[in-house]
Amino acid sequence: MGDYDVGKSNLLSRISLNEFNIESKTTIGVEFATKKIQIEGRTIKAQIWDTAGQERFRCIPTAYYKTSAGAFLVYDITNRRSFENLKLWLKELSQYTDDQVAILLVGYKSDLRHLRAVPTDEAKVFADKNNLPFIETSALDSTNVEIAFHKIMTNIF
Ligand code: GTP
Ligand code: MG
Repeated sequence: MGDYDVGKSNLLSRISLNEFNIESKTTIGVEFATKKIQIEGRTIKAQIWDTAGQERFRCIPTAYYKTSAGAFLVYDITNRRSFENLKLWLKELSQYTDDQVAILLVGYKSDLRHLRAVPTDEAKVFADKNNLPFIETSALDSTNVEIAFHKIMTNIF
């Protein structure tokens, strides 16, 4: 979850299909994909839901929150507003999920270093304050995508 245009759908397509789409369309409603991962010798199949960031396309994703074991909380490192809005997304998460949900804070589009608007240190402070693990990734050049997925799955199991 996270604001529109931060790159949620590309994070999902990079994880599930190893694909990146430069002209991806805004998500309407919810979409999902699956991905298998090995953790401590066991094969785990993750069902990953991708929600719409735009309010007008959000069709009650609350039903999906309820059964979720984990969540990527995503902002775009070049978009200050998407970072400021994290507290609203956190509030929504706490409202609709139980306390067991494993959240990973993801600073996204890390390839766009020259356009950075959110310093890594500032995000780390926010993560510590809210007790969240934190990582910066890019679906464009694949930096840390697999690590992020592994990290959240390990936290779940
Ligand atoms: P909504 O579905 O509207 O909520 O947006 P979203 O969060 O799913 O964003 P989406 O994945 O559709 O990506 C939005 C735009 O950002 C697209 O033009 C992508 O090509 C671009 N983008 C996504 N990930 C990255 C990344 O890691 N680096 C760069 N440079 N651009 C990215
Ligand atoms: Mg999307």
